[in-house]
Amino acid sequence: MHSLANKHILLGVTGSIAAYKAAELVRRLREGGAEVRVVLSAGGAEFVTPLTFQALSANPVHSELLDTEAEAAMGHIELARWADAVVVAPASANVIARLAQGRADDLLAAVCLATEAPVAVAPAMNQQMWANAATQDNLQRLRERGMHQFGPAEGDQACGETGLGRMLEATDIARHTAGLFDTGALAGLRVLVTAGPTQEAIDPVRYLSNRSSGRMGYAVAQAAAEAGARVTLVSGPTALPTPPRVARIDVRSAQDMHEAVQEQAGGADIFIATAAVADYRPAAPAEKKIKKTTDTLSLELVRNPDILAGVAALPGGPFTVGFAAETENLLAYARDKLARKGLDMIAANRVGGGLGFEAEENALSVIDANGVTELPQAAKSQLARRLIVLIAKHFRRRLG
Ligand code: PMT
Repeated sequence: MHSLANKHILLGVTGSIAAYKAAELVRRLREGGAEVRVVLSAGGAEFVTPLTFQALSANPVHSELLDTEAEAAMGHIELARWADAVVVAPASANVIARLAQGRADDLLAAVCLATEAPVAVAPAMNQQMWANAATQDNLQRLRERGMHQFGPAEGDQACGETGLGRMLEATDIARHTAGLFDTGALAGLRVLVTAGPTQEAIDPVRYLSNRSSGRMGYAVAQAAAEAGARVTLVSGPTALPTPPRVARIDVRSAQDMHEAVQEQAGGADIFIATAAVADYRPAAPAEKKIKKTTDTLSLELVRNPDILAGVAALPGGPFTVGFAAETENLLAYARDKLARKGLDMIAANRVGGGLGFEAEENALSVIDANGVTELPQAAKSQLARRLIVLIAKHFRRRLG
């Protein structure tokens, strides 16, 4: 169930004897790598306590639509946005009817109405209630609106009857939930990304740096997380928010970035170096602010470690993808870096003319041993997704 990795699953538990299976479902979803939050209806709480779900999900349980404290922490709109999928399990006949009506008078119904994420119901009810035309009509309406339906199963029921209406087992619901997501080109893989500039201290108030905004690297980190990877982003100073489900390590200098990457690289399957790392740093940064007492000032610079080449040289290390920003001879310089640094792939971008550093858009020529793939000009977020598809393909090919 790799496609559950890093996914946010909102589990709606409603009033049915099958609510006990929802406790097991929380465990199965978390085993698949998902983060789970539970919305417990008043009926559901009659069968299983909020404390059980809180302990199993390791998150607070949400129950009230109009609770000022709860709304301040995470209200129905935040929950709706947080979810990558909403699964209502068990879904009683009553809840199915209310969802079909588009009601918004309790928290679960409001979240289902407000979310853009896929919503699935796992029906659980007596076989007569299941067979009733009203229930079937309601489900038909939900399916027509794109809602997913998991089950029900046939068999003995808690009421002593036998027939259709039993909720599916937790493992089956978890498997169907995983199936809601794309297979996730990087599902289950760990991806390490560097982004942004580095700052090399001259004295306590001045530094050498470059124009990298971090946009390209953050877009790559986000695209990798969307593709199901566990992503760690080692970032130089930027003004950007951390993409959802990405673990971020902030660094300042090339040496800091080098140390952070060395620490993380052993556990990574793929390393993508988008950072614009300063090649040199002042040999001896002044301890006190330098005073302007002379007409000229010379700074002695020394080479910084090559972070990317260091990772590429690790025995059994990750699949390494470098970036190359060039103003001329784009492909020739990039090919040289690919070979010299021992990389699996390099993404070359021409800088200037509204592309590359600081810009919203970019264009990439992606080079590996097999040739060049052109990714034409687009928003960095789109380009990053295309790059991730390419990386996933080549990574799998290398695995054989
Ligand atoms: O951040 P943005 O404003 O969105 O801009 C994006 C970008 C232009 C910075 C990005 O797309 C990009 O091209 N990054 C690489 C910048 C660069 O010039 O790299 P380089 O040619 O100096 O280095 C080649 C590769 O080695 C890069 O992957 C770099 O991260 C890595 N490197 C370089 C030097 C060093 N000491 N350590 C490294 O790991």
